Amino acid sequence: MTATIPSREPAGLDRLLARAQQLGDVETPKLLANTPASARLYQRAIRTLPYGVVSSFQKGSPYPIYVSRGKGSHVWDQDGTEYVDFHGGFGAMVVGHAHPRIVEACREAASRGTHFAVTTEEAVEYGEEICKRFNLEMLRFANSGTEATMDAIRVARAATGRDVICKIEGSYHGHHDAVMFSVVPGADTMGGRERPAKAPVSKGLVKDAAKYIEVVPFNDAAALEQLLTEKGKEIACLIMEPSMMNIGIVQPQPGYLQRVRELCTRFGVVFIFDEIKTGFTIARGGATERFGVQPDLVCLAKAIAGGLPAAAFGGREDLMRLIEQGVSQMGTYNGNPLVSHVGLVTLREILTPSAYAHFTRLGARLTAGCNRVIEKYGLPAHTVDLGAKGCVSYRPTPMTNYRDFLETRPELFAASYPWLLNRGVFMTPGDEEQWTLSVQHSDADVDLYISVFEEFAKALTG
Ligand SMILES: Cc1ncc(COP(=O)(O)O)c(C=O)c1O
Repeated sequence: MTATIPSREPAGLDRLLARAQQLGDVETPKLLANTPASARLYQRAIRTLPYGVVSSFQKGSPYPIYVSRGKGSHVWDQDGTEYVDFHGGFGAMVVGHAHPRIVEACREAASRGTHFAVTTEEAVEYGEEICKRFNLEMLRFANSGTEATMDAIRVARAATGRDVICKIEGSYHGHHDAVMFSVVPGADTMGGRERPAKAPVSKGLVKDAAKYIEVVPFNDAAALEQLLTEKGKEIACLIMEPSMMNIGIVQPQPGYLQRVRELCTRFGVVFIFDEIKTGFTIARGGATERFGVQPDLVCLAKAIAGGLPAAAFGGREDLMRLIEQGVSQMGTYNGNPLVSHVGLVTLREILTPSAYAHFTRLGARLTAGCNRVIEKYGLPAHTVDLGAKGCVSYRPTPMTNYRDFLETRPELFAASYPWLLNRGVFMTPGDEEQWTLSVQHSDADVDLYISVFEEFAKALTG
Protein backbone atom coordinates (compact mmCIF):
# COMPACT_ATOMS: atom_id res chain seq x y z
CA MET A 1 0.00 0.00 0.00
CA THR A 2 2.88 2.36 0.69
CA ALA A 3 6.00 2.76 -1.42
CA THR A 4 9.32 3.97 -0.10
CA ILE A 5 11.74 5.77 -2.35
CA PRO A 6 15.41 6.38 -1.56
CA SER A 7 16.18 9.88 -0.33
CA ARG A 8 18.09 12.47 -2.40
CA GLU A 9 21.35 13.95 -1.22
CA PRO A 10 20.83 17.26 0.64
CA ALA A 11 22.74 19.09 -2.12
CA GLY A 12 20.28 17.64 -4.66
CA LEU A 13 17.44 18.77 -2.46
CA ASP A 14 18.68 22.37 -2.45
CA ARG A 15 18.71 22.32 -6.24
CA LEU A 16 15.21 20.85 -6.28
CA LEU A 17 13.85 23.52 -3.95
CA ALA A 18 15.43 26.29 -6.02
CA ARG A 19 13.92 24.78 -9.15
CA ALA A 20 10.52 24.45 -7.40
CA GLN A 21 10.66 28.17 -6.65
CA GLN A 22 11.43 28.94 -10.31
CA LEU A 23 8.57 26.72 -11.53
CA GLY A 24 6.16 28.36 -9.08
CA ASP A 25 7.29 31.79 -10.27
CA VAL A 26 6.31 30.83 -13.83
CA GLU A 27 3.22 28.70 -13.17
CA THR A 28 1.45 30.91 -10.63
CA PRO A 29 1.22 33.98 -12.92
CA LYS A 30 0.02 31.61 -15.69
CA LEU A 31 -2.71 30.31 -13.42
CA LEU A 32 -3.76 33.84 -12.54
CA ALA A 33 -3.81 34.80 -16.22
CA ASN A 34 -6.05 31.76 -16.91
CA THR A 35 -8.55 32.55 -14.15
CA PRO A 36 -9.73 36.18 -14.52
CA ALA A 37 -13.36 35.26 -13.75
CA SER A 38 -12.28 33.74 -10.41
CA ALA A 39 -10.39 36.97 -9.66
CA ARG A 40 -13.53 38.99 -10.43
CA LEU A 41 -15.78 36.75 -8.33
CA TYR A 42 -13.29 37.01 -5.49
CA GLN A 43 -13.48 40.82 -5.60
CA ARG A 44 -17.24 40.54 -5.30
CA ALA A 45 -17.31 37.72 -2.71
CA ILE A 46 -14.82 39.37 -0.36
CA ARG A 47 -17.37 42.15 0.24
CA THR A 48 -19.89 39.66 1.70
CA LEU A 49 -17.96 36.57 2.81
CA PRO A 50 -14.81 36.63 5.00
CA TYR A 51 -11.88 35.60 2.75
CA GLY A 52 -14.44 35.56 -0.08
CA VAL A 53 -15.37 31.94 0.66
CA VAL A 54 -18.07 29.98 2.49
CA SER A 55 -15.61 28.05 4.72
CA SER A 56 -12.09 29.12 5.72
CA PHE A 57 -10.64 25.87 4.36
CA GLN A 58 -11.53 27.14 0.87
CA LYS A 59 -9.54 30.35 0.95
CA GLY A 60 -6.79 30.75 -1.64
CA SER A 61 -3.84 32.99 -2.35
CA PRO A 62 -4.18 35.50 -3.94
CA TYR A 63 -7.72 34.19 -4.53
CA PRO A 64 -9.38 30.77 -4.72
CA ILE A 65 -10.26 29.13 -8.03
CA TYR A 66 -14.07 29.14 -8.00
CA VAL A 67 -15.96 26.21 -9.52
CA SER A 68 -19.20 26.69 -11.41
CA ARG A 69 -20.21 23.10 -12.21
CA GLY A 70 -19.24 19.44 -12.28
CA LYS A 71 -20.17 16.39 -14.33
CA GLY A 72 -18.77 12.91 -13.90
CA SER A 73 -15.12 13.14 -12.90
CA HIS A 74 -14.76 16.67 -14.27
CA VAL A 75 -15.31 20.19 -12.93
CA TRP A 76 -15.40 23.56 -14.68
CA ASP A 77 -14.09 26.71 -13.10
CA GLN A 78 -15.65 30.16 -13.21
CA ASP A 79 -13.87 30.86 -16.52
CA GLY A 80 -15.28 27.68 -18.06
CA THR A 81 -11.94 25.81 -17.96
CA GLU A 82 -12.37 22.06 -17.62
CA TYR A 83 -10.36 19.93 -15.16
CA VAL A 84 -10.31 16.33 -14.02
CA ASP A 85 -11.33 16.57 -10.39
CA PHE A 86 -9.10 14.93 -7.78
CA HIS A 87 -10.20 17.38 -5.07
CA GLY A 88 -13.52 15.53 -4.69
CA GLY A 89 -15.11 18.15 -2.45
CA PHE A 90 -12.59 17.32 0.33
CA GLY A 91 -13.49 13.65 0.08
CA ALA A 92 -17.28 13.83 -0.13
CA MET A 93 -17.70 13.15 -3.85
CA VAL A 94 -16.92 9.46 -4.29
CA VAL A 95 -20.10 9.27 -6.40
CA GLY A 96 -18.63 11.84 -8.82
CA HIS A 97 -20.51 14.92 -9.98
CA ALA A 98 -24.14 15.04 -11.11
CA HIS A 99 -24.33 11.24 -11.11
CA PRO A 100 -27.53 10.51 -13.06
CA ARG A 101 -28.96 8.36 -10.27
CA ILE A 102 -28.20 11.03 -7.65
CA VAL A 103 -29.83 13.71 -9.80
CA GLU A 104 -32.88 11.49 -10.20
CA ALA A 105 -32.94 10.68 -6.47
CA CYS A 106 -32.86 14.41 -5.63
CA ARG A 107 -35.86 14.92 -7.91
CA GLU A 108 -37.73 11.95 -6.42
CA ALA A 109 -37.20 13.22 -2.87
CA ALA A 110 -37.91 16.86 -3.69
CA SER A 111 -41.19 15.96 -5.37
CA ARG A 112 -42.36 14.36 -2.08
CA GLY A 113 -41.30 17.33 0.08
CA THR A 114 -37.82 18.27 1.20
CA HIS A 115 -38.35 18.74 4.92
CA PHE A 116 -40.80 17.90 7.70
CA ALA A 117 -38.68 17.72 10.87
CA VAL A 118 -40.56 14.48 11.42
CA THR A 119 -38.76 11.14 11.07
CA THR A 120 -39.53 9.30 7.84
CA GLU A 121 -39.35 5.56 7.13
CA GLU A 122 -36.44 6.19 4.79
CA ALA A 123 -34.48 7.88 7.58
CA VAL A 124 -34.91 4.70 9.61
CA GLU A 125 -33.80 2.56 6.65
CA TYR A 126 -30.83 4.83 5.98
CA GLY A 127 -29.79 4.52 9.62
CA GLU A 128 -30.13 0.71 9.43
CA GLU A 129 -27.94 0.59 6.33
CA ILE A 130 -25.17 2.65 7.95
CA CYS A 131 -25.33 0.58 11.14
CA LYS A 132 -24.86 -2.60 9.09
CA ARG A 133 -21.78 -1.25 7.32
CA PHE A 134 -20.01 -0.05 10.45
CA ASN A 135 -21.29 -2.64 12.90
CA LEU A 136 -23.11 -0.02 14.98
CA GLU A 137 -25.94 -0.95 17.33
CA MET A 138 -27.64 2.45 17.13
CA LEU A 139 -27.02 5.83 15.55
CA ARG A 140 -28.25 9.37 15.32
CA PHE A 141 -28.00 11.76 12.37
CA ALA A 142 -26.39 15.20 12.29
CA ASN A 143 -25.57 17.67 9.52
CA SER A 144 -21.78 17.96 9.52
CA GLY A 145 -18.71 16.18 10.77
CA THR A 146 -18.32 18.90 13.39
CA GLU A 147 -21.72 18.11 14.85
CA ALA A 148 -21.06 14.36 14.79
CA THR A 149 -17.80 14.61 16.80
CA MET A 150 -19.33 17.19 19.16
CA ASP A 151 -22.26 14.89 19.92
CA ALA A 152 -20.13 11.75 20.27
CA ILE A 153 -17.90 13.55 22.78
CA ARG A 154 -20.94 14.66 24.77
CA VAL A 155 -22.20 11.08 24.94
CA ALA A 156 -18.75 9.92 26.10
CA ARG A 157 -18.62 12.57 28.81
CA ALA A 158 -22.08 11.61 30.03
CA ALA A 159 -21.22 7.91 30.02
CA THR A 160 -18.04 8.31 32.05
CA GLY A 161 -18.81 11.36 34.18
CA ARG A 162 -15.37 12.61 33.09
CA ASP A 163 -14.59 15.91 31.37
CA VAL A 164 -11.24 15.52 29.62
CA ILE A 165 -10.97 14.32 26.05
CA CYS A 166 -7.85 12.91 24.47
CA LYS A 167 -6.93 13.51 20.83
CA ILE A 168 -4.07 12.79 18.49
CA GLU A 169 -1.48 15.46 17.69
CA GLY A 170 -2.14 16.97 14.25
CA SER A 171 -5.69 15.66 13.81
CA TYR A 172 -8.70 17.74 12.81
CA HIS A 173 -12.13 16.77 14.14
CA GLY A 174 -14.24 19.80 13.21
CA HIS A 175 -14.42 23.33 14.54
CA HIS A 176 -16.13 23.11 17.93
CA ASP A 177 -14.12 24.32 20.94
CA ALA A 178 -13.44 20.91 22.48
CA VAL A 179 -11.24 19.68 19.61
CA MET A 180 -9.65 22.91 18.35
CA PHE A 181 -6.24 22.06 19.76
CA SER A 182 -3.06 20.67 18.23
CA VAL A 183 -4.43 20.52 14.68
CA VAL A 184 -1.42 21.88 12.77
CA PRO A 185 0.87 23.11 15.55
CA GLY A 186 4.10 24.80 14.47
CA ALA A 187 7.45 23.47 15.65
CA ASP A 188 7.60 26.36 18.14
CA THR A 189 4.26 25.54 19.81
CA MET A 190 3.99 21.75 19.60
CA GLY A 191 5.84 20.83 22.78
CA GLY A 192 7.44 17.47 23.59
CA ARG A 193 7.09 14.40 21.41
CA GLU A 194 5.45 12.05 23.92
CA ARG A 195 3.20 14.63 25.55
CA PRO A 196 2.56 17.27 22.87
CA ALA A 197 1.37 20.75 23.82
CA LYS A 198 -2.30 21.72 23.67
CA ALA A 199 -1.79 24.39 21.03
CA PRO A 200 -5.11 26.20 20.30
CA VAL A 201 -6.08 26.64 16.63
CA SER A 202 -8.45 29.55 16.94
CA LYS A 203 -9.07 32.77 18.74
CA GLY A 204 -12.37 32.94 20.58
CA LEU A 205 -12.18 29.58 22.33
CA VAL A 206 -13.37 29.42 25.93
CA LYS A 207 -10.34 30.55 27.94
CA ASP A 208 -9.85 27.43 30.00
CA ALA A 209 -10.87 24.96 27.23
CA ALA A 210 -7.31 23.56 27.20
CA LYS A 211 -7.95 22.20 30.71
CA TYR A 212 -10.20 19.60 29.13
CA ILE A 213 -7.89 18.22 26.44
CA GLU A 214 -4.91 15.89 26.36
CA VAL A 215 -2.85 15.24 23.23
CA VAL A 216 -0.88 12.12 22.30
CA PRO A 217 1.13 11.17 19.19
CA PHE A 218 -0.31 8.78 16.58
CA ASN A 219 1.09 5.26 16.30
CA ASP A 220 2.44 5.39 19.85
CA ALA A 221 0.45 3.15 22.17
CA ALA A 222 3.11 3.45 24.87
CA ALA A 223 2.61 7.24 25.10
CA LEU A 224 -1.14 6.69 25.36
CA GLU A 225 -0.67 4.05 28.05
CA GLN A 226 1.54 6.43 30.01
CA LEU A 227 -1.07 9.19 29.83
CA LEU A 228 -3.91 6.87 30.81
CA THR A 229 -1.89 5.48 33.70
CA GLU A 230 -1.40 9.02 35.01
CA LYS A 231 -4.73 10.58 34.17
CA GLY A 232 -7.07 7.81 32.96
CA LYS A 233 -9.67 8.54 35.65
CA GLU A 234 -10.20 12.04 34.22
CA ILE A 235 -10.41 11.04 30.55
CA ALA A 236 -13.83 10.51 29.00
CA CYS A 237 -12.80 9.51 25.49
CA LEU A 238 -10.07 9.15 22.94
CA ILE A 239 -11.08 10.51 19.55
CA MET A 240 -8.89 9.60 16.57
CA GLU A 241 -8.85 9.28 12.83
CA PRO A 242 -7.96 5.59 12.39
CA SER A 243 -5.82 6.65 9.45
CA MET A 244 -4.80 10.30 9.70
CA MET A 245 -6.05 12.21 6.68
CA ASN A 246 -5.45 15.85 7.36
CA ILE A 247 -1.67 15.73 6.89
CA GLY A 248 -1.59 13.74 3.67
CA ILE A 249 -2.24 10.18 4.85
CA VAL A 250 -0.67 8.40 7.81
CA GLN A 251 -1.47 4.72 8.12
CA PRO A 252 -1.88 3.00 11.48
CA GLN A 253 1.03 0.63 12.09
CA PRO A 254 0.15 -3.05 12.46
CA GLY A 255 -1.34 -3.73 15.90
CA TYR A 256 -1.58 -0.06 16.90
CA LEU A 257 -5.37 0.29 16.70
CA GLN A 258 -5.86 -3.07 18.47
CA ARG A 259 -3.57 -1.91 21.29
CA VAL A 260 -5.45 1.39 21.59
CA ARG A 261 -8.70 -0.57 21.72
CA GLU A 262 -7.36 -2.64 24.63
CA LEU A 263 -6.09 0.42 26.51
CA CYS A 264 -9.40 2.27 26.17
CA THR A 265 -11.24 -0.78 27.49
CA ARG A 266 -8.79 -1.18 30.37
CA PHE A 267 -9.08 2.46 31.48
CA GLY A 268 -12.83 2.83 30.83
CA VAL A 269 -12.21 5.44 28.12
CA VAL A 270 -14.76 5.68 25.28
CA PHE A 271 -12.94 4.96 22.01
CA ILE A 272 -14.23 7.13 19.15
CA PHE A 273 -13.25 6.69 15.50
CA ASP A 274 -13.55 9.89 13.51
CA GLU A 275 -14.33 8.27 10.16
CA ILE A 276 -15.41 11.49 8.51
CA LYS A 277 -12.76 10.99 5.83
CA THR A 278 -12.20 7.22 5.96
CA GLY A 279 -15.89 6.31 6.14
CA PHE A 280 -17.35 5.06 2.82
CA THR A 281 -14.04 5.80 1.04
CA ILE A 282 -11.44 3.25 2.13
CA ALA A 283 -13.93 0.36 2.35
CA ARG A 284 -17.73 -0.14 2.45
CA GLY A 285 -17.52 -0.02 6.23
CA GLY A 286 -14.62 2.45 6.36
CA ALA A 287 -11.66 1.95 8.67
CA THR A 288 -13.79 -0.08 11.05
CA GLU A 289 -14.05 -2.75 8.36
CA ARG A 290 -10.65 -2.26 6.71
CA PHE A 291 -8.57 -2.38 9.90
CA GLY A 292 -10.88 -4.78 11.76
CA VAL A 293 -11.06 -2.81 14.99
CA GLN A 294 -14.41 -1.87 16.53
CA PRO A 295 -14.46 1.40 18.47
CA ASP A 296 -17.26 2.33 20.90
CA LEU A 297 -18.53 5.17 18.69
CA VAL A 298 -17.99 6.09 15.03
CA CYS A 299 -18.44 9.58 13.51
CA LEU A 300 -19.40 9.83 9.83
CA ALA A 301 -20.00 12.64 7.32
CA LYS A 302 -18.61 13.72 3.90
CA ALA A 303 -19.16 10.72 1.55
CA ILE A 304 -22.24 9.55 3.48
CA ALA A 305 -24.94 11.04 1.23
CA GLY A 306 -23.81 11.57 -2.37
CA GLY A 307 -22.57 15.10 -1.70
CA LEU A 308 -25.51 16.35 0.35
CA PRO A 309 -24.80 17.79 3.81
CA ALA A 310 -25.32 14.89 6.19
CA ALA A 311 -23.56 13.22 9.08
CA ALA A 312 -24.12 10.56 11.70
CA PHE A 313 -22.55 9.06 14.78
CA GLY A 314 -23.32 5.82 16.50
CA GLY A 315 -22.07 2.68 18.15
CA ARG A 316 -22.73 0.84 21.38
CA GLU A 317 -26.38 0.73 22.40
CA ASP A 318 -25.69 1.49 26.08
CA LEU A 319 -23.92 4.70 25.00
CA MET A 320 -26.51 5.76 22.43
CA ARG A 321 -29.40 5.06 24.85
CA LEU A 322 -28.00 7.87 27.02
CA ILE A 323 -29.77 10.13 24.54
CA GLU A 324 -32.97 8.74 26.10
CA GLN A 325 -31.57 9.46 29.56
CA GLY A 326 -30.66 13.12 29.48
CA VAL A 327 -27.98 13.61 26.81
CA SER A 328 -29.19 16.28 24.38
CA GLN A 329 -28.84 15.44 20.71
CA MET A 330 -31.03 17.25 18.23
CA GLY A 331 -31.06 19.19 14.95
CA THR A 332 -33.85 20.52 12.77
CA TYR A 333 -32.39 18.99 9.61
CA ASN A 334 -31.05 15.71 11.06
CA GLY A 335 -31.77 12.87 8.62
CA ASN A 336 -34.12 15.02 6.61
CA PRO A 337 -36.07 13.31 3.79
CA LEU A 338 -33.91 14.65 0.95
CA VAL A 339 -30.68 13.54 2.60
CA SER A 340 -32.15 10.19 3.70
CA HIS A 341 -33.42 9.28 0.24
CA VAL A 342 -30.28 10.38 -1.58
CA GLY A 343 -28.11 8.81 1.12
CA LEU A 344 -29.92 5.50 0.85
CA VAL A 345 -29.61 5.51 -2.95
CA THR A 346 -25.91 6.36 -2.58
CA LEU A 347 -25.23 3.44 -0.28
CA ARG A 348 -27.53 0.84 -1.82
CA GLU A 349 -27.11 1.57 -5.53
CA ILE A 350 -23.81 3.39 -6.03
CA LEU A 351 -21.35 2.55 -3.25
CA THR A 352 -21.74 -1.18 -3.89
CA PRO A 353 -18.93 -3.76 -3.70
CA SER A 354 -18.11 -3.09 -7.36
CA ALA A 355 -17.56 0.61 -6.55
CA TYR A 356 -14.93 -0.40 -4.00
CA ALA A 357 -13.34 -2.78 -6.51
CA HIS A 358 -13.17 0.18 -8.92
CA PHE A 359 -11.48 2.39 -6.27
CA THR A 360 -8.98 -0.37 -5.51
CA ARG A 361 -8.06 -0.86 -9.16
CA LEU A 362 -7.88 2.84 -10.02
CA GLY A 363 -6.03 3.76 -6.81
CA ALA A 364 -3.44 1.05 -7.50
CA ARG A 365 -3.01 2.31 -11.09
CA LEU A 366 -2.59 5.91 -9.93
CA THR A 367 -0.10 5.15 -7.16
CA ALA A 368 1.86 2.71 -9.34
CA GLY A 369 2.15 5.42 -11.99
CA CYS A 370 3.23 8.05 -9.45
CA ASN A 371 5.71 5.62 -7.90
CA ARG A 372 7.29 5.03 -11.30
CA VAL A 373 7.70 8.78 -11.72
CA ILE A 374 9.08 9.28 -8.20
CA GLU A 375 11.64 6.54 -8.77
CA LYS A 376 12.59 7.61 -12.30
CA TYR A 377 13.26 11.22 -11.28
CA GLY A 378 14.50 10.48 -7.74
CA LEU A 379 11.94 12.74 -6.06
CA PRO A 380 11.99 12.85 -2.25
CA ALA A 381 8.41 11.60 -2.10
CA HIS A 382 6.24 8.61 -1.35
CA THR A 383 2.69 7.59 -2.19
CA VAL A 384 -0.15 6.17 -0.12
CA ASP A 385 -2.97 4.14 -1.67
CA LEU A 386 -6.10 3.58 0.41
CA GLY A 387 -9.20 2.83 -1.67
CA ALA A 388 -10.72 6.03 -3.03
CA LYS A 389 -8.11 8.05 -1.10
CA GLY A 390 -4.44 8.40 -1.78
CA CYS A 391 -1.67 10.94 -2.08
CA VAL A 392 1.83 11.87 -3.07
CA SER A 393 3.65 13.27 -0.01
CA TYR A 394 6.95 15.06 -0.43
CA ARG A 395 8.95 13.07 2.11
CA PRO A 396 11.04 10.06 1.06
CA THR A 397 9.53 7.64 3.57
CA PRO A 398 5.97 7.11 4.84
CA MET A 399 4.90 9.11 7.86
CA THR A 400 4.09 7.58 11.22
CA ASN A 401 2.81 10.69 12.99
CA TYR A 402 2.36 14.45 12.81
CA ARG A 403 6.05 15.26 13.42
CA ASP A 404 6.94 13.41 10.23
CA PHE A 405 4.57 15.71 8.33
CA LEU A 406 6.72 18.65 9.42
CA GLU A 407 9.54 17.03 7.44
CA THR A 408 7.60 17.04 4.16
CA ARG A 409 8.62 19.69 1.60
CA PRO A 410 5.71 22.14 1.22
CA GLU A 411 7.78 23.99 -1.41
CA LEU A 412 7.46 21.00 -3.75
CA PHE A 413 3.71 20.75 -3.21
CA ALA A 414 3.37 24.52 -3.69
CA ALA A 415 5.11 24.26 -7.08
CA SER A 416 3.06 21.22 -8.12
CA TYR A 417 -0.30 22.85 -7.35
CA PRO A 418 -0.35 25.52 -10.12
CA TRP A 419 1.48 23.11 -12.45
CA LEU A 420 -1.32 20.55 -12.13
CA LEU A 421 -4.11 23.13 -12.42
CA ASN A 422 -2.55 24.68 -15.52
CA ARG A 423 -2.65 21.24 -17.13
CA GLY A 424 -6.21 20.27 -16.26
CA VAL A 425 -5.79 18.49 -12.92
CA PHE A 426 -7.91 19.96 -10.13
CA MET A 427 -6.43 19.35 -6.68
CA THR A 428 -6.97 20.59 -3.17
CA PRO A 429 -5.03 23.76 -2.42
CA GLY A 430 -3.07 22.40 0.58
CA ASP A 431 -0.62 19.53 1.06
CA GLU A 432 -2.58 18.36 4.11
CA GLU A 433 -5.24 16.95 1.76
CA GLN A 434 -5.21 13.95 -0.60
CA TRP A 435 -6.91 12.87 -3.80
CA THR A 436 -10.40 11.41 -3.86
CA LEU A 437 -11.43 9.06 -6.66
CA SER A 438 -15.04 8.58 -7.67
CA VAL A 439 -17.07 5.83 -9.31
CA GLN A 440 -17.07 8.06 -12.41
CA HIS A 441 -13.27 8.37 -12.67
CA SER A 442 -11.71 6.40 -15.50
CA ASP A 443 -8.32 4.99 -16.43
CA ALA A 444 -7.87 7.99 -18.73
CA ASP A 445 -8.44 10.41 -15.82
CA VAL A 446 -5.85 8.67 -13.72
CA ASP A 447 -3.41 8.47 -16.62
CA LEU A 448 -3.75 12.23 -17.13
CA TYR A 449 -2.73 12.77 -13.51
CA ILE A 450 0.29 10.50 -13.94
CA SER A 451 1.44 12.15 -17.16
CA VAL A 452 1.07 15.68 -15.74
CA PHE A 453 2.90 14.58 -12.60
CA GLU A 454 5.68 13.16 -14.77
CA GLU A 455 6.00 16.44 -16.71
CA PHE A 456 6.25 18.20 -13.35
CA ALA A 457 8.94 15.79 -12.09
CA LYS A 458 10.88 16.25 -15.34
CA ALA A 459 10.71 20.05 -15.09
CA LEU A 460 11.68 19.93 -11.43
CA THR A 461 14.73 17.79 -11.98
CA GLY A 462 15.67 18.99 -15.47
C1 LIG B 1 -11.37 13.92 10.09
C2 LIG B 1 -12.37 15.04 10.08
N1 LIG B 1 -13.22 15.18 11.11
C3 LIG B 1 -14.15 16.14 11.15
C4 LIG B 1 -14.26 17.04 10.11
C5 LIG B 1 -15.30 18.10 10.16
O1 LIG B 1 -16.31 17.84 9.24
P1 LIG B 1 -17.23 19.03 8.70
O2 LIG B 1 -16.38 19.88 7.84
O3 LIG B 1 -18.32 18.32 7.96
O4 LIG B 1 -17.73 19.75 9.91
C6 LIG B 1 -13.41 16.95 9.02
C7 LIG B 1 -13.49 17.90 7.90
O5 LIG B 1 -12.63 18.03 7.07
C8 LIG B 1 -12.43 15.92 8.99
O6 LIG B 1 -11.57 15.79 7.98
